[in-house]
Amino acid sequence: MEITIDTNRSEKEIYSEISRQLEFLIVPSDKIISNLSNFTALLKQAFTKISWVGFYICNNDKLFLGPFQGSSACTEITIGNGVCGTSASTRETIIVDDVDNFPGHIACDSNSKSEIVIPIIIDNNLWGVLDIDSPKKSSFSDLDKINLENFCKLLTNKLELDKFVLS
Ligand code: SME
Repeated sequence: MEITIDTNRSEKEIYSEISRQLEFLIVPSDKIISNLSNFTALLKQAFTKISWVGFYICNNDKLFLGPFQGSSACTEITIGNGVCGTSASTRETIIVDDVDNFPGHIACDSNSKSEIVIPIIIDNNLWGVLDIDSPKKSSFSDLDKINLENFCKLLTNKLELDKFVLS
């Protein structure tokens, strides 16, 4: 399936376009892994500021690497460690303007300079996080936070993410 997104438009317009595209890209009857993979591909394609985007999925108090786009990454993160593990334990979205100033930041990609992590909660249980990296400092703002949180809500509403099996 080919989707074209004009990366030169404003971020607000790009987010509106992604919202429209997600309506038909996310298909509940498709496999969860396929939907999540296409979701990460769409975000990576839409924003030149994104170098890495992917899911870490919770299992037994650890986060495990899920569908992603970008360079190979660390496969396990303990809850409470790094930006992902901190967002998972506080259940708050975290925006890091400069990863060098975040104590305990886990450098999977030495090219990463800023990061946003959105926790994904289902029925009050942590399902995982959406993690996004940028090679530029201060790449993420409240505009990203609001839209990405809405996209994660759309995923939890349309897909039975809690049925995703890690084995
Ligand atoms: N930087 C993250 C680790 C995951 S990679 O960015 C893909 C962290 O500190 O949790």
